[in-house]
Amino acid sequence: MIFMKNVKELQVEGKVVLCRCDFNVPIKGGVIRDDNRIVAALPTIKELISKGAKLVLMSHLGKIKHKEAPEVVAEQKAKNNMEPVAARLAELLEGVKVSFCPATRGEELKAAVASLNNGEVLVVQNTRYEKGESKNDPELSKEWASLADAFVMDAFGSAHRAHASTYGIPSILKEEGKQVALGYLVEKEVVSLSKVVNVEERPFVAILGGFKVSDKIKVINALVEKCDKIIIGGAMAYTFMKALGGEIGESPCEVDQLDYAKRMYESGKILLPVDTVCANDFDNPTEVREVPSNAIPAGFEGLDIGPKTREIYVAEIAKAKTVFWNGPMGVFEKEAYQAGTIAVCKACADLKGQAFTVIGGGDSAAACKQFGFKDEFSHVSTGGGASLEMIENNGHLPGIDVIGE
Ligand code: 3PG
Repeated sequence: MIFMKNVKELQVEGKVVLCRCDFNVPIKGGVIRDDNRIVAALPTIKELISKGAKLVLMSHLGKIKHKEAPEVVAEQKAKNNMEPVAARLAELLEGVKVSFCPATRGEELKAAVASLNNGEVLVVQNTRYEKGESKNDPELSKEWASLADAFVMDAFGSAHRAHASTYGIPSILKEEGKQVALGYLVEKEVVSLSKVVNVEERPFVAILGGFKVSDKIKVINALVEKCDKIIIGGAMAYTFMKALGGEIGESPCEVDQLDYAKRMYESGKILLPVDTVCANDFDNPTEVREVPSNAIPAGFEGLDIGPKTREIYVAEIAKAKTVFWNGPMGVFEKEAYQAGTIAVCKACADLKGQAFTVIGGGDSAAACKQFGFKDEFSHVSTGGGASLEMIENNGHLPGIDVIGE
């Protein structure tokens, strides 16, 4: 890894530090459902406060489609308002003055930054309120960079996006000779995921689930090169089963991925379910059966891996020295279909102290939290897309590389 400055090394007393966080947390009706990403950013935020920085925090929240009609955009903005994040942060940083700026650029933002005292925090409205954010618009990057004396990248979950707030700002500040650094959260992610990217200990077992093969093509390509075994579960398993000539009933299948799935299976590294829990209706089933994975009856849909598969997968995981897991084994939100995901969680947890186990964010992170295994993993990444891209790109992400380039 190229040498990169860490937040600890910055000298920022009385300086405006712009810290890009990933506060993209689930919010419903103005209430934060999971504040994990805010909590995960606290070590860096507290470090900068203790150094006497004037701290400006920026993040995106949700998606805003600027091409939609103005009333739709307004609705998306209202839904993805950053204000509840600022309020939660103020609670977590008891005793620290935390204010919120509803403007994303212009005089109002400039004035809010200018009014900060040392050790105070300003949370800026959702960066995606600006159309130019996702396009890495040079004018927007320039305006944001002009507010700051230094930049800290602590948004691992957004490090695969070369956007104005993740890439444009640090590029400009570096050119101007200003300090740029990685935050503690990003540093921890890089150290942990590098052990997966560089496969420090074998056997290396990857566990992949989730809905679509097409979403995971690049990571499957990378993992087939790096891994000793790839365990497949979730809905994507049915595309593999179909590709091998199986009957999959009403289970989801990506017809355009059948050739790819067959080719990947021929690598000899892929393990597929041998049995499946299936039901005759997703919402209101009258019949739930355990059947061979290649003989799911017409009218039935596969919803979890079956008991024999659980045994095989658990035995394979038990041999591993490195595990990377992304994507649940079944519809774990429903009790009837969570046994596969629980079995995988437990098998990884049983490796504690003997293997390096990493969860690549997203649904698997939610599942391990739900089933009480979160503290049993070596690392639970805060970035789903980012951790996958880090593996695909052999350790490189634009929002991190830019700090060290
Ligand atoms: C995530 O939740 O994966 C990150 O915050 C990135 O969000 P995005 O996919 O909307 O860029």
